[in-house]
Amino acid sequence: MATEFGTPLYVLDETSLRERIREFVVAARRAYANSQVSYASKANSTLAVLAIAHQEGCSLDVASEGEFRAALAAGVPPQACHLHGNNKSRQELSFAIEQGIGAIVIDHFGEIEMLKALASNAPPQCPQLLLRLAPGVDPKTHEKIATGQADTKFGFNIADGAALRAAERTLKANLPLAGFHCHVGSQLMDSEAQTSGAELIARFAMEAKATLGFVATVLNVGGGLGVRYTDSDRPEPVDSFCQNIAAAVRATLRGSSIDPILIFEPGRSLVAESGVTLYTVGVVKTVPVSAGKTRTYVAVDGGLSDNPRPALYGAKYSVERVAPPPAGPTRVVTVSGRHCETDRLIAEASLPEDIAPGNLVQVLTTGAYASSMSSNYNRYPRPATVLVRPDGEFRTVQVRETFDSMLAREVVPDDLGRER
Ligand code: LLP
Repeated sequence: MATEFGTPLYVLDETSLRERIREFVVAARRAYANSQVSYASKANSTLAVLAIAHQEGCSLDVASEGEFRAALAAGVPPQACHLHGNNKSRQELSFAIEQGIGAIVIDHFGEIEMLKALASNAPPQCPQLLLRLAPGVDPKTHEKIATGQADTKFGFNIADGAALRAAERTLKANLPLAGFHCHVGSQLMDSEAQTSGAELIARFAMEAKATLGFVATVLNVGGGLGVRYTDSDRPEPVDSFCQNIAAAVRATLRGSSIDPILIFEPGRSLVAESGVTLYTVGVVKTVPVSAGKTRTYVAVDGGLSDNPRPALYGAKYSVERVAPPPAGPTRVVTVSGRHCETDRLIAEASLPEDIAPGNLVQVLTTGAYASSMSSNYNRYPRPATVLVRPDGEFRTVQVRETFDSMLAREVVPDDLGRER
């Protein structure tokens, strides 16, 4: 693959991808018969991945018009998508409604007004609406990927009464409110925070019934289950993750005659471990660090632009040499990228002692939030994605960007152009 398509290269294994998605769908159904798994497409919105997720029975969480258009381009029906966003534009909402999106998750009071105005231009019909709630749960994860706590830009706060006022206003506007949503955070190693979030929105559904006579038919408990980036990551198995959340919802709603569909909205846990990134080693350099100590940098031909997670979140990864095959003793090195800053992809990696320029390495667990967060920093064209089929054959599902395509959207005004 590296010879045919060059490096850096995102590689996704279709069999593993399908297995993981199925595992989640089955676990969700076992935990709660009336459940649905909605793939959070921000994790990897390569069209082939969206098509596979839908084929495997998922609906899709899209967080922008762009993600919605990607879903449509992948052949996912609009009714199988729901739209998120803390600052959706009127144009984004109206496009979604026109296309017949399945549901919209409302994030603030202004959006209720926008939807009221758009819905009055019927047809088309207003889709199902959910209110995104901030349950006030503080998850144990990196602060930049925690979203459920009270101090958040997302959703309506339950504790200060905003959530109840939002439900009341939506119902008064005769909008088709269906239920509630919460997402507490990402890369969570256990179900604790999400279970609390689920319990709180279920309790809120009881309150909405008691106060407003509204019976929720949908509860969406967000995504969040973590994955194994390194050996020390031990995420809870998906079965017990789903069981714990479902049990909390059932226990809270017991005897209430509220019997909603339960939606899980995972992104990372469906795709991360099915992907690796291949890189070619270009430089191996040993430098002095302090008295008697040295550090060996192994520079690969990618980095920050194809995987910003180490720089953004201090994320840790595992790396292996794949060609030549690893053999003999190993040593600890720092794998760096080739960008014009200290882009340590992996601060401490164990690689064969004879690691050398021209070797091929793979960074594991890059199926989520790598391709979808890639950039052109330092004007590197974004990598291709190759999908390995169940029969071992492989095909490109996203071509490598070219210098021409990267530069094509720019214009040098005549008075700034070079003399011709
Ligand atoms: N639903 C909502 C509303 C979300 O905001 C997210 C993620 C998910 C579902 C999916 O969460 P997951 O199952 O993937 O944890 N770029 C960061 C992750 C940001 C996640 C934001 N929201 C990273 O690379 O770690």
